[in-house]
Amino acid sequence: MAEGRHVVLGVTGGVAAYKAVYLARRLIDRGATVRVVMTESALEFVGSATFGAITGTDPVTSFFGGEDVSPHTTLGRWADVIVIAPATASTISKLAAGQSSDVLVATVLASRARVVIAPAMHTEMLDQPAVQKNIETLRAYGYEIVDPEDGPLAGGDEGPGRLADPEVIADAVREAFPRLDMAGLRVIVTAGGTREPIDPVRYIGNRSSGKMGASIAEVAVERGAEVVLVTTTTQTPVGSIEIVQVETADEMAEAVWSRAGAADVAVLAAAVADFRPDQVHRTKIRRTAGVPEIRLVPTPDILKGVSEMTSRPFLVGFAAETGSLDTASEKATAKDVDLLVANDIAKEGSGFGSDTNEVRFVFRDGSTRDLPLMSKRDVATQIWDTVMTLRAES
Ligand SMILES: Cc1cc2nc3c(=O)[nH]c(=O)nc-3n(C[C@H](O)[C@H](O)[C@H](O)COP(=O)(O)O)c2cc1C
Repeated sequence: MAEGRHVVLGVTGGVAAYKAVYLARRLIDRGATVRVVMTESALEFVGSATFGAITGTDPVTSFFGGEDVSPHTTLGRWADVIVIAPATASTISKLAAGQSSDVLVATVLASRARVVIAPAMHTEMLDQPAVQKNIETLRAYGYEIVDPEDGPLAGGDEGPGRLADPEVIADAVREAFPRLDMAGLRVIVTAGGTREPIDPVRYIGNRSSGKMGASIAEVAVERGAEVVLVTTTTQTPVGSIEIVQVETADEMAEAVWSRAGAADVAVLAAAVADFRPDQVHRTKIRRTAGVPEIRLVPTPDILKGVSEMTSRPFLVGFAAETGSLDTASEKATAKDVDLLVANDIAKEGSGFGSDTNEVRFVFRDGSTRDLPLMSKRDVATQIWDTVMTLRAES
């Protein structure tokens, strides 16, 4: 079912545009809220009033002249799924090229929602290498393609190119909805590297970009969780996430410990300094004063603090290693975590700053699972899949 889900239905200029009216009806019957975006050519085939009457909202047909000054970004953010049915060769080509000259393509480009494309055109058009290449490009970008059917076409012709049955397209839309398996879960995530001040100018820091933690927060919120992100970076993840900005290990510890008791799951992905200068100089240390001696003292162990809480959340820790990951199992036991995610930050494509990561999961019983190199977003999905399975088993 599609209860409460937001669907943007894009309609382009093909004869099958009339079938999009029925598709809108079926999506609404299934519980979705539907907003329609029509291309200029689509308006030659079906009246916007028909969609307006069915969906209860006037379709968006242009960037300009409506109430919303930026309809493409509004709808792009609003959408859980965008479906384009029928999708003409022209619109498919624009999407493949990332060319946002009309409000429909701009809506797709301004969105992070899953996109379902249902091409429809004459067989000769469909068979063109350029059209096939564009469809394959979209598939490779992660768009869901609902292949056209073989059957009667406009003008008495027959062959492949007919728009897929609206029920089949509606099923593809349902499949594309993000899972909401984390609805009701309260989650706290940490991200970024802490900065431990030496004087008003300098600090001891590390190279963590906060991308891994941001991806973990983003995926959790997409799956329906209530998310607090305690972070040292200004990188803002997408979605309705409560951001708590901190800088030092002390501040992060305070922010996490005061909130973790109310959380169901804590994923501590931040790179927290182990030591900080024992005192912060009030004024800038001058070169002329000679080489300063900076004494370091340990910072609070945030992970251990959470693991020792009386009502503790399900706890996921991170271990950034250089070289062998064998010590990760010891850390998992020492910190008493439910799942440890270890990575070798010295490895190509893995660790700080990169968009990919290659990690090892270490479980409570000491067993491990090595994951191949993948995007940080995919690692985040794997972490949540594993957390959900482990919680269900415990
Ligand atoms: C009667 C008629 C039917 C058309 N049917 C299709 C079609 O089924 N598929 C297609 O790709 N183009 C079709 N076209 C061509 C498109 O309308 C044209 O490429 C237009 O520029 C598409 O613009 P849009 O993608 O912005 O809607 C048809 C044109 C006419 C005049």
